[in-house]
Amino acid sequence: MVHFLTLKDYSREEILSLISKAIKYKRTPQSSISFSGKSIALIFEKPSTRTRASMAVAAYQIGVFPITYNWSELQLGRGEPIKDTARVLSRYHDAIAARVYFHNVLEELAEYASVPVINMLSNLFHPLQALADFMTIFEKFGGFKDVKIAFVGDGRDNVLNSLLIIANKLGVEIRIASPREYWPTENFLNEIGCRAVTITEDPIEAIDGANVIYTDVFVSMGQESEREKRLKDFLPSYQVNDRLVRFADQNFIFMHCLPAKRNEEVTDSVIEDVQHSVVWDQAENRLYTAKAVLSKLIYENI
Ligand code: CP
Repeated sequence: MVHFLTLKDYSREEILSLISKAIKYKRTPQSSISFSGKSIALIFEKPSTRTRASMAVAAYQIGVFPITYNWSELQLGRGEPIKDTARVLSRYHDAIAARVYFHNVLEELAEYASVPVINMLSNLFHPLQALADFMTIFEKFGGFKDVKIAFVGDGRDNVLNSLLIIANKLGVEIRIASPREYWPTENFLNEIGCRAVTITEDPIEAIDGANVIYTDVFVSMGQESEREKRLKDFLPSYQVNDRLVRFADQNFIFMHCLPAKRNEEVTDSVIEDVQHSVVWDQAENRLYTAKAVLSKLIYENI
C-alpha cells in the first residue's frame, strides 16, 4: 500500500511525475473530470482553509466524493482508538486524509488502514504544500536548474522539513536562516535523508543571490503558548522585508505557504509585491497537486 505521509519513500521520478501531472491538470482542467463512485475521508484535528478546500474540490473533480470530518465530531474525539477508526473508515472510503497535531497519529492510521493515508499536515511534515511549492517553482523558472531557495524563519518548521525532502531528491539548493536554537538537528536531517543544506544565523548570508525567498509563521498552530518568546527570538532579524529582499537575485520570487501574519514574518509590502510574490499561485497549485496525489493513490494504488 502506497501512502503519502512524508515523501521520504518517493523517488525523484515519482515526485517529478506528480508535478508534471499537476501541470497537465492545470493546463487542461477537463482532463481530470470523471465519476468513479469512490470516496475519501478528510479528517481535520486542526483548522484549515487551503488544504480543506483544495482537497475537497480536487477529489470531487476527479470523481472521488469527499466527506469532511472534524476530529471532535467523530468518536475519535470521545476516545475511540485511532486504529479502530482507521479500520472502520477503510470499509467505507477509498482513501483517508488527515490533518493532525502529532505525526505518529498518521503513522498509526497508515498501519491499520487498508486504504491509502494522506498527510494533510502534521507537526513534522506538510508534503502536499511542498509539492505545490515545487510545482510553482517549476512554473516560474521553467525547471529546477540553478534554483537557490533561502528559507528564513523557524529551522524546524513542518513545511521546511517537506521542502528539504523534495529539494534533496531533486538536487535543489536550500539555505536556512534561523536562530541557532531553532536549527534542525543533525539526527533529524539524517533521518529525512537531507545531505546538502546550508544553515546560518545570518538571513543576509542565506538570501544572498537566492532565487526563492520562503518564510512561514513564527508561531505555528499548537505553539501559541510560546508566542511571546518566539516573537522575541525571530524579530526583527528574521522578518522578510524590503531591506532583506534587496540581497536576493533581482528576479527572485517570494513564497509563503499561508496563512501569513503580516508584519511578523513578512511585511505587507513584500507579500503584496505583484512583481515578486507568488503566494496566490502557490495556493492555487494546491488544487492541481492534490488532484495528482489523489489520482495516483486512489486510481493507481492497486
Ligand atoms: N498552507 C496550508 O496548509 O493552509 P491551510 O492551513 O489553510 O490549509
